[in-house]
Amino acid sequence: MENFTAYNPTKLHFGKNVIEQLPETIASYGQKVLLLTGKGSVKKYGYYDQVVKKLQDAGKTVIEFSGIKPNPTLVDAEKAVQLAQTHQIDFIVALGGGSVIDTAKMVNMAYANDLPVWDIMKHKVEPRLKKSLIAILTLAATGTEMNGAAVLQNHQTQEKIGYFSTLMYPEVSFLDPSYTLTVPKNQTVNGIVDLIAHSLEAFFSGGFAPLSDRFVAANILETMDYAPKLCLDLKNYDLRARMMWTATVAENGTTMHGRTTSGDWGTHALAHHISLLWDTPHGQTLSVVFPAWLKAMSYKIEARIKALGSLLTGEKNISASETILFLEKFFEQIGAPIRFKALGLNERDKQKLLDLWLINRPSGLNIELSPKDYQQIISFL
Ligand code: NZQ
Ligand code: ZN
Repeated sequence: MENFTAYNPTKLHFGKNVIEQLPETIASYGQKVLLLTGKGSVKKYGYYDQVVKKLQDAGKTVIEFSGIKPNPTLVDAEKAVQLAQTHQIDFIVALGGGSVIDTAKMVNMAYANDLPVWDIMKHKVEPRLKKSLIAILTLAATGTEMNGAAVLQNHQTQEKIGYFSTLMYPEVSFLDPSYTLTVPKNQTVNGIVDLIAHSLEAFFSGGFAPLSDRFVAANILETMDYAPKLCLDLKNYDLRARMMWTATVAENGTTMHGRTTSGDWGTHALAHHISLLWDTPHGQTLSVVFPAWLKAMSYKIEARIKALGSLLTGEKNISASETILFLEKFFEQIGAPIRFKALGLNERDKQKLLDLWLINRPSGLNIELSPKDYQQIISFL
């Protein structure tokens, strides 16, 4: 096993009505709160009213920035930073899915350190300060509620990139599975794919970390058990709770310890370009790219793919291609797209994607990708 440091400072409240603990949590945080929300679902379903009431009952002044879109943009983050500066806010509450919480994390870094968002993300400057950030999650998928990562897209430079800092873990996160009962089927499927992809990204890091491997397998097997039932029963609290917790555990460090890198992330880096070009939901890009990446990488990591297959199926002699088929079948079973065509994209679009990969050179932290690999992956999409 590789050396590692286990660190996760997020305090996480999980379960029905955990929002009741919000006033107590923020009592010492100062007067003015910047509340970030998305395109309107939290208002439509009543979560916004509940949260604003709690903030006001605690005597806070709410400054609101709403309208953050899925696949969030640098432009919105910059606007929210301006608002934070104008009102000199004291702390931040993010109410929504990954897009809202990720934006809030970068707004926090830029505002607290008086630095441009993109300079931070491109590692030109290093933030040292933070304000308190509270995450109230309404969509199980990314794991952002208990990690230090954020992803934004910059259309000017044609990049969608992630940034990680130990300063960016939410201080406290509230996860009430009831808040996810309104997530529609397609978005639920996207979240399931995303959390499986995170588990796989962990698995395809390097080194010998058997317990972390078993955590990956357990998380995927748990997901494969509840997911088909959940897709038929979207209002089922217990199934939603199982999904919410697997999504958090898939990317809060549990599956990473003892590996050479904190995950591979080559598949994510490739898939982000599809979101960047066509605004495709994150989960859909992954159910298409992961199988293609596995097929193209089989020549490098065949034994590792087989090891995954054995852990997931219990079959000792499973082949790499059977393992990939097993994953594809699961994605298909829950209605996730597994081919580029199913995203409504064509051969010309593939070329466009390849061209952008050749400019930005996405790669994994463990498994490096060459232009030849890109060609192979494209051929399997
Ligand atoms: O915008 P609103 O109206 O709020 O609607 C959202 C949005 O349309 C809707 N939604 C959220 N909660 C809902 C709901 N609809 C009904 N009921 C609810 N309770 O769902 C849609 C998608 O929301 P979004 O926040 O975009 O989804 P997700 O949580 O999947 O976040 C995706 C973003 O996170 C990044 C992705 O790249 C993408 O930009 N990621 C962040 C990571 C991290 N920080 O660790 C890791 C991931 O790999 C990922 O890259
Ligand atoms: Zn992801």
